[in-house]
Amino acid sequence: MLANTLELVSEARRRGVAVGAFNTYSIELTQAILQAAEHLNQPVILQLGVASVKTGGEPLVRATVVAAQRAHVPVAVHLDHCADLGMIEQCFSWGCSSALADGSHLSFAENVALTRQAVALASSYHATIEAELGYLAGTEDGVTVEAVKASLTQPEQARAFVAATGASMLAVAIGNVHGFTPNPPPLDFERLSQIASQVDIPLILHGASGLGKENVQRAISLGVAKINVNTEVRTAFLSAIATWGLRVGPTPDVRRSGQDWLDLMREAIAAAQMVVTEHMQT
Ligand code: 13P
Ligand code: ZN
Ligand code: NA
Repeated sequence: MLANTLELVSEARRRGVAVGAFNTYSIELTQAILQAAEHLNQPVILQLGVASVKTGGEPLVRATVVAAQRAHVPVAVHLDHCADLGMIEQCFSWGCSSALADGSHLSFAENVALTRQAVALASSYHATIEAELGYLAGTEDGVTVEAVKASLTQPEQARAFVAATGASMLAVAIGNVHGFTPNPPPLDFERLSQIASQVDIPLILHGASGLGKENVQRAISLGVAKINVNTEVRTAFLSAIATWGLRVGPTPDVRRSGQDWLDLMREAIAAAQMVVTEHMQT
């Protein structure tokens, strides 16, 4: 069933756990994520990125919402990292439960202004706004330690930011990075607990690919209630397709009347589902 994101995340926080939020790009990846959630009987969040919404448009967004409605567990549909208020409103009108109004690269004042407008929009759709203060580095290469520190969420600013915006959930930057880094730099857990003491809304951890169970569990114990995973799941799906291609060769057997397609998707879905399951068991 389609769920309210804030309710899912708040309930998870009360229980001392987190909701997994997995990026989807297609109906097959959605299927993989929902099958994992249904087998574990856990709620889940399906996330669509801006590029996916641009490519797939209303049909992709609505198909994702329908898949959530038909699921046997509570499922929220979330627009990930979006600084475009027009797209946020469009996604709400197509049934999305929440959006990350991402002003993390703007100045503090501009971030507040963007997030406030998004919060006002969301209220007329009974939707939830995640906000982001501080931003994630994709890589530390060529960046000074001071520059990295400056990009992290400042606990005192977080308090003022939440009060000024009315956001319902806050994404934090504590050294977490987007993408898969085999040996990620340590997370700043001291900073996370300071943020948690300043802010009473649920905290969100982005960039969970490559972080490992221990980091994720520690973050949850300090108030993180939504964990974002993208790269690991997408990579598993794409690797399965690549492996299938190597096995089948450049020309699939055209006489198999669609069986080749079903085999390929079944393998890709199974591979992605396995990674989602691992994350949901953290
Ligand atoms: P990863 O790609 O590191 O899992 O990050 C996901 C994310 O933060 C989506 O918003
Ligand atoms: Zn993210
Ligand atoms: Na990551």
